[in-house]
Amino acid sequence: MRRAVCPGSFDPVTNGHVDVITRAAALYDELVVAVLVNPGKAGLFSVEERMALLREAVADVPNVTVDSFQGLLVDYCRANDVPVIVKGLRAVSDFEYELQMAQMNRELAGVETLFVPTAPQVGHLSSSLVKQIATFGGDVSGLVPKAVHERLTAHREAGA
Ligand code: PNS
Repeated sequence: MRRAVCPGSFDPVTNGHVDVITRAAALYDELVVAVLVNPGKAGLFSVEERMALLREAVADVPNVTVDSFQGLLVDYCRANDVPVIVKGLRAVSDFEYELQMAQMNRELAGVETLFVPTAPQVGHLSSSLVKQIATFGGDVSGLVPKAVHERLTAHREAGA
């Protein structure tokens, strides 16, 4: 069985993530989307909320599962028998850091990295920009899955 992991913060999942996840899922028997638990960095959404939003966003892709992990990604890969990491690349600016991590993960544990170039229509998206725009009342309905849009709106209204 060919398995891969698509790791990230997903705070929150955007249409760019969904693009990469959907296309990567077509290449493997199982794609695990793994949300990083980062005790040093509180996100806008809890890890449980991020996972729930991810599950909803990819509900129509049957071979995608959603999980979380803490610590080194390669330790998660080893423990779960996952030989490949999938990462989306939006622009050349992503590449330098992603290349470094890919080389390090291969050195640490022999885990390979597959880069998926994002579709041009979503290449400008990032979770942080989406959060910033939503915080100030901008329209992000075309940038994120419906459930994420609803949660961002609720979040803004609660804080207003
Ligand atoms: O969505 P992000 O925040 O860009 O995702 C970054 C992530 C989670 C993929 C990266 O920070 C990561 O792999 N963290 C786990 C810790 C780790 O393995 N660090 C060594 C990388 S060589």
